[in-house]
Amino acid sequence: MSGPPVDALADLPGVGAWQWVPGPQRPTLLVAPNLPGTDGRTKPAAEQAVVDEAAVAGDAAVAGADLSSLPQLSRLMDEVALLAMARVLYRARLFRDGAKHDTGQVLDMLRVAPRHAWIVRRWLSTLVTEGRLRYDRASGRYHDLVAPDRVGYARARRELDEARRGLGYPPSMTRFFVATAERLPALLRDEAGVQELLFPDGSTDTAEGNYRDNLPSRWVNHAAAALVAGRTHGSNHPLRMLEVGAGIGATTRPVLEALSGTELDYLFTDVSRFFLTSARTLLGDRPGLRFGLFDINLPPVAPEFTPGSRDVILAANVLHNARHIGRALAALRELLAPDGLLVLVESCREHYQALTSMYLLMSPSAEEQRWFTDVRAGQDRVFLSPAEWVDQLDAAGFDPLPVLPGDKHPLADAGQRVIVGRARSGVRRPDPVLVEAALAARLPPPDRPERIHAVDRVMSAPNTVSIGVSR
Ligand SMILES: C[S@@+](CC[C@H](N)C(=O)[O-])C[C@H]1O[C@@H](n2cnc3c(N)ncnc32)[C@H](O)[C@@H]1O
Repeated sequence: MSGPPVDALADLPGVGAWQWVPGPQRPTLLVAPNLPGTDGRTKPAAEQAVVDEAAVAGDAAVAGADLSSLPQLSRLMDEVALLAMARVLYRARLFRDGAKHDTGQVLDMLRVAPRHAWIVRRWLSTLVTEGRLRYDRASGRYHDLVAPDRVGYARARRELDEARRGLGYPPSMTRFFVATAERLPALLRDEAGVQELLFPDGSTDTAEGNYRDNLPSRWVNHAAAALVAGRTHGSNHPLRMLEVGAGIGATTRPVLEALSGTELDYLFTDVSRFFLTSARTLLGDRPGLRFGLFDINLPPVAPEFTPGSRDVILAANVLHNARHIGRALAALRELLAPDGLLVLVESCREHYQALTSMYLLMSPSAEEQRWFTDVRAGQDRVFLSPAEWVDQLDAAGFDPLPVLPGDKHPLADAGQRVIVGRARSGVRRPDPVLVEAALAARLPPPDRPERIHAVDRVMSAPNTVSIGVSR
């Protein structure tokens, strides 16, 4: 089917508005009530106290570190990335002798795999923003690249290691950034993979540096742990946790430490078996800890994913991989018990260094027909701002808590944030079972959505026409 069956979506029971979300297999239908959900942003004092305690825990995790120099150190890392981008373009003989090129020519000359084209488009716009390349709007061509000189690049690489140390990354991070910068042409052509550089011989040391040991990660992981621990007060059954995209367990470990005296039913999940195997070895002896596969882009169908069965869901640096954030959030909220807590850790700032390294892991797969179908559609970006996350949580049926660290905190600029929502109760949402029954009478099986989620509000996305009013 090419588009949503608009006629069949009229007058659905209890539905005020709908959104037809494509792929990855069959579409999903999000349905919202006639009246918008309550605005749950007025928080009880107890909620604020938990947030304040989490901020104290974050600060304690970085106590003694000099946070004032972080912006300057981040800038040094940005600088190496900018030089690395310019170097790839220059070495491909682009922009030499006054030559002007449009984006298509740049992609052709570099022989970029189609799935990574967005990264090169971002390089071009970033270099323009930084005054190292010029763009002629009338012709759509770029020109006047500031060519990187050998001495400047060597100096920037040395400074990268100083920055790495100051930010609390292990030495393997410098090796990783240098290795990716050196192999960028092959990486962009998909003739080499970042995975092998990030996990050399299956070792997780470099990834741990990226998600655990550095100052911003330490802050958010400990703040997230305090938020989860704050949730346990007063419950009379084991704390039922689901962690998605748990990976190398950089957030899991402080969370398990914070819950050391708590009886747990902790389901550690990831989309990849590689991480489940290493986590079993590392964490497997903790009572109440189980391991399983879970993909945030697919319906949670396994028996352990019963609606309303989880007190807390933790998702650290993974939810941006959702092809449609609203769909993923709606599915997670359905798994939460009333008033259950969703704790996200997300990067909310674009780091140039990622444009020459980690972003290559975030491109769509070669088989995927489309990439993001939400607010990021067609925008060559992966991450959401704190305000966008809060909006997404609100629309999906969560009461958002204040984002941590707060905007004025010295680590806010580093971009790692803890974003929390409490599953909103007391809202009358459409019943997906009734909607499914109505659609069964109107549509043949292949045209029906694969799943239906109730939300509080549907959100428009650029270049999509899949939103409608049902009455
Ligand atoms: C950036 S790592 C973060 C790992 C971990 N949360 C941590 O902080 O140590 C992202 C993780 O998300 C997982 N992931 C990627 N796409 C996913 C998906 N569609 N569903 C579930 N997990 C996914 C990856 O396998 C990886 O382990």
